[in-house]
Amino acid sequence: MAAEGSSSLEMEIDWAALRAAASAAASHAYAPYSNLRVGAAAIADDGRLVSGCNVENASYGLTLCAECGLVSALTASGGGRLVAMSVTAGDGKPLAPCGRCRQLLFEHGGPDLVVDEGPGAPPVTIGELLPRAFTSDDLSTRRKGP
Ligand code: THU
Repeated sequence: MAAEGSSSLEMEIDWAALRAAASAAASHAYAPYSNLRVGAAAIADDGRLVSGCNVENASYGLTLCAECGLVSALTASGGGRLVAMSVTAGDGKPLAPCGRCRQLLFEHGGPDLVVDEGPGAPPVTIGELLPRAFTSDDLSTRRKGP
């Protein structure tokens, strides 16, 4: 297990294992409305593996993306920072995180969180996927009062 606080530069990322974990999570998706199964899996900075799948709802707008489940699993299992992750559809291929989830992932991984682009392709960072992100710095520097 890696030391707590490790970044993707210090950690050897087993992308095949992350993809397999994301695919396994996708197989548990509850997606009767879109039929698009999605799984997300990530390594946290203490080496922990966390995952999530999409959970849809008859009231479509209440759907939870796979990344929501992943962030919930990260937090419920002790928190920490996301270091590297894979988002995979039911076909086993990488899926681009939606805009809302880019914001979620940025909060819990920071700009250097690396996201799988599939075998043979260099991973991208969340900072690249969500440039000029709104962060807690904007809150602390821009709000009125303490
Ligand atoms: N979905 C995710 O789980 N993550 C994303 O980043 C993109 C979209 C899910 C939500 C919904 O259940 C299905 O894909 C179709 O939009």
